[in-house]
Amino acid sequence: MTKVLIATDKPFAPVAVQGIRKVTEEAGFELVLLENYTSPDDFIKAVADVDAVIIRSDKADKAVIEAGKNLKIIVRAGAGYDNIDLQAATEKGICAMNTPGQNSNAVAELALGMMVYSARNFYNGKSGFELKDKTLGIHAYGYVGKNVARIAKGFGMKICAFDPFITKEEIEKDGVTAVASAEELYAKCNYISLHIPANSQTKQSINYALLSKMPAPAVLVNTARAEVINEADLLKLFQDRKDFAYLSDVEPTNKADFEANFKGRYFFTPKKMGAQTEEANINAGIAAAKQIVNFLKNGDRTFQVNK
Ligand code: 3PG
Repeated sequence: MTKVLIATDKPFAPVAVQGIRKVTEEAGFELVLLENYTSPDDFIKAVADVDAVIIRSDKADKAVIEAGKNLKIIVRAGAGYDNIDLQAATEKGICAMNTPGQNSNAVAELALGMMVYSARNFYNGKSGFELKDKTLGIHAYGYVGKNVARIAKGFGMKICAFDPFITKEEIEKDGVTAVASAEELYAKCNYISLHIPANSQTKQSINYALLSKMPAPAVLVNTARAEVINEADLLKLFQDRKDFAYLSDVEPTNKADFEANFKGRYFFTPKKMGAQTEEANINAGIAAAKQIVNFLKNGDRTFQVNK
């Protein structure tokens, strides 16, 4: 029987797993669950005899891909697929997909939620400030960036965006000002919300030169990936500028430095929480299951990322 594995070290909400089960079992497939696993070896063992796998930020590296002797498709239930070794998948003829857009509202709500939380001094009883009329720069205007713009408009923020892959018209039809470069975006905005993927061009690209252009008070909001930040540069900037704050969905590797020296100027989630809502889990999980069924039954390769 065709087997579909869900391998999630950070599990989906139970209601999402029920939905995935329904889609896969109605297709005549068997669903296998590996949740809360702690060692990559558990994933390697579980993938050995399955045809398809659904993951989140779980690492589908070369070892996992080579262990999947029957594996035909890997679907990352979410947007970023930097956790899949695409070359290894391609070499083995395995189709890799993501589920773009399915969890984007959840991530956008967290970005704005962290902004309110810090603007109100983490609800510590002291007077804070409002987001209304503050400038927000959205760095990359994909599904998450668009949702951030929609919600930020409700707060009355002034919104700019930079995305080299999206036309000015497409951005401006949402009432957002399109700017011509990342430098211009950072120079204009007190808040920057990052929505770039982690790849060879973007890793470490958020550096001192860019961040130091931000007017005071500056707040960097990262619901993208830790790897896109040059952490040494960020720490240097924290030392040089007392007005700078950093809000991140996932702790930086140098968290201890922030804790020791910059209390009150940062907030980090201990685990990546942006997409951790029932709605996002249901949307992304069921989309992944449907994509697997369509691929295995009909050869549908929509959303393939290793073409
Ligand atoms: C994504 O790329 O879709 C988000 O970062 C969510 O990741 P998660 O599924 O691990 O929560």
